[in-house]
Amino acid sequence: GAHFVEDRYQREINYLRVSVTDRCNLRCHYCMPPQGVSVVPRKEILTLEEIVRVVEASTRVGVKKVRLTGGEPLVRRGITDLVRALAAIPEIDDLALTTNGILLAARGDQLKAAGLRRVNISLDTLKPERYSYITRGGRLEAVWQGIERSLELGLHPVKLNAVVVRGFNDDEICDLARLSLDRPLHVRFIELMPFGTSAGVSREGYIPTAEIRSRIEEELGQLQEVRKLTGSGPARYYRLAGAAGTIGFISAVSDHFCGRCNRLRLTATGALRPCLFHEYEIDLKGPLRRGATLDELAELVARAVWDKPGRHHLNEGQSCSRKNMSQIGG
Ligand code: GTP
Ligand code: 5AD
Ligand code: SF4
Repeated sequence: GAHFVEDRYQREINYLRVSVTDRCNLRCHYCMPPQGVSVVPRKEILTLEEIVRVVEASTRVGVKKVRLTGGEPLVRRGITDLVRALAAIPEIDDLALTTNGILLAARGDQLKAAGLRRVNISLDTLKPERYSYITRGGRLEAVWQGIERSLELGLHPVKLNAVVVRGFNDDEICDLARLSLDRPLHVRFIELMPFGTSAGVSREGYIPTAEIRSRIEEELGQLQEVRKLTGSGPARYYRLAGAAGTIGFISAVSDHFCGRCNRLRLTATGALRPCLFHEYEIDLKGPLRRGATLDELAELVARAVWDKPGRHHLNEGQSCSRKNMSQIGG
């Protein structure tokens, strides 16, 4: 039975974000330095079996939702097998994936067949040259094919993630918002968060949600709050009049959602990280490789839940995370 479902701040922890690789087929400016980040040797990365075991253990302490992240999760060999294995765990009722979308047109069918429920796809711009610039070489057309395929396959709700960066893509806020009008696309604007080596980009480029929102309302009209959308992540959702999809805001910096944070992260190297902005981690790889039982692993997950910090203090001078987004899984 699931005993330790609350942390010490009475938050129910039921969502595990699993980074399956620190590698990526892109190198976005706000995520990685130009030379890329050094990738970890393969033997340091959890095997698919080890990941499944951690998820099984975490269901014993209340995890019901799993999201696969990276780096880019679709570059991990065996990702479809992993999805199939996780979909077979009865306690898991939401199995999703966050991707840059490049490989989605090619892999979507298999993933859906394996039991993937839905996808969140990064889309920061609608301009091909700009996309190629931001991602250092990515093809926007490939992402669009992935988005179309996801809609066809019914990987609903299809959510798009746009990190807004002043001087980069803030002139496209309204064009991105318009994507929610005709089709069931859920466009989420994410405040730029300060991370490791890309923190320089972050501080200057940061635009608060309030400003993004007012720019949308000035041009496209009032936003109506929407009650709920599948997923229990940090976004708040709204709708433009008559729109098929929604507009979401992830105000990680200006209005931190730490009070309703419901998640833990498993890094690709097998550490449980209770908070994106605290370096504190509990190693599971060692115990896993020494043959820990599911009960022993569940005990460690429970400890990570209990040790989860109350909140981040980015607005009161807390320094940013030393690691990059691609190393933690976002
Ligand atoms: P849903 O299940 O669809 O609600 O997904 P999600 O929004 O939880 O996941 P996604 O991977 O699409 O993340 C969107 C953005 O929210 C990314 O920039 C994440 O880094 C950010 N995010 C997710 N969880 C947290 C968190 O606990 N703290 C902070 N600060 N940001 C988070
Ligand atoms: N701030 C906010 N969001 C970020 N992402 C990557 N780096 C940052 C950052 N510095 C987003 C990606 C992806 C999600 C997992 O995290 O665009 O959509
Ligand atoms: Fe890759 Fe995602 Fe980082 Fe871009 S944001 S470099 S797509 S891990």
